[in-house]
Amino acid sequence: MNLPKEKANEYRAQARRLREKLDSYIDEHPDFTLKKMLLSGSLAKGTALRSLNDIDVACYISGADAPRDVTILLEYLAERLRKAFPNFSADQVEPQTYSVTVSFRGTGLDVDVVPILYSDDPQWYGNLVSQDDGSYLETCIPLHLEFIRKRKQAQETHFAQLVRLIKFWVRNLKRERGDFKFKSFMVEMILAHLSDQGFDFSDYPEALQHFFTYVVKSRLRERIVFDDYHTPSEVGSFTEPVQIIDPVNFKNNVSCLYTEADADAIVDAALDAGDAIDAALAAPTKEKTVYYWQKIFGSSFQI
Ligand SMILES: Nc1ncnc2c1ncn2[C@@H]1O[C@H](COP(=O)(O)OP(=O)(O)OP(=O)(O)O)[C@@H](O)[C@H]1O
Ligand SMILES: [Mg+2]
Repeated sequence: MNLPKEKANEYRAQARRLREKLDSYIDEHPDFTLKKMLLSGSLAKGTALRSLNDIDVACYISGADAPRDVTILLEYLAERLRKAFPNFSADQVEPQTYSVTVSFRGTGLDVDVVPILYSDDPQWYGNLVSQDDGSYLETCIPLHLEFIRKRKQAQETHFAQLVRLIKFWVRNLKRERGDFKFKSFMVEMILAHLSDQGFDFSDYPEALQHFFTYVVKSRLRERIVFDDYHTPSEVGSFTEPVQIIDPVNFKNNVSCLYTEADADAIVDAALDAGDAIDAALAAPTKEKTVYYWQKIFGSSFQI
């Protein structure tokens, strides 16, 4: 299920070459409004699945005279990326709904460039275009990467592996029913919360069971807040049913788009998964054990 290390390195190198190309263009054109590119998403966090299908890169755009309308902003970003990457043909740099895709002919994956409007914040806070609904989210990708890095250090290999296992479970559910959703970043925040409470992730069946039990018991209606960058008492009030607060911006609820029904669907699925783990652990034969794990992760899952 994991993206092999060599593949991850190859894709990171692909993103790095784009970033370096932009950097050298900026050196020659210091007034250029694209300021930098930064690997974001699962490849940056070391939580990618083998099924990774694009490379997420954030691109910082100087906010002052950039268009605010997302469709126009994406055209603007595409046009400037074409300038910075003259050896790409125009049709290799195409605006999508909420990002711009840079396609590589032949090898490699496509790079998905997500705009961030930015006004020289020294920590690289900026307004990220949400890939869920195109709204602007004030957030800070470098601090997110640091946040995840801390949890990975606290539970070496196990934190990232648990993220992958749960994402694999989510992917299987999405395949079964189209309307199921459970954002990877929310999964990571919940696991960070459990890790911060001192739970040890080294026994994977037990850690998975702990995650599913937490989801069922809390019904995802308990607010999750972290104290890495702000004092938890400073968190504002929210009205949404699921409240997982962005550790770097206490005004941003990472799960603001999740309805009661979305949350209930996750809770029901977690209940089933928890039952299947119990059954797998109690199963008398290898076949039975595999049968129950495949109920959770799908028929491609082998042990
Ligand atoms: N609602 C949000 N608020 C703030 N930042 C967000 C939000 N959604 C996504 N991000 C930022 O975008 C990054 C990538 O999003 P996400 O975690 O959902 O995808 P991913 O890690 O690439 O997972 P996948 O394997 O599903 O593509 C996050 O690590 C976070 O920095
Ligand atoms: Mg991604």
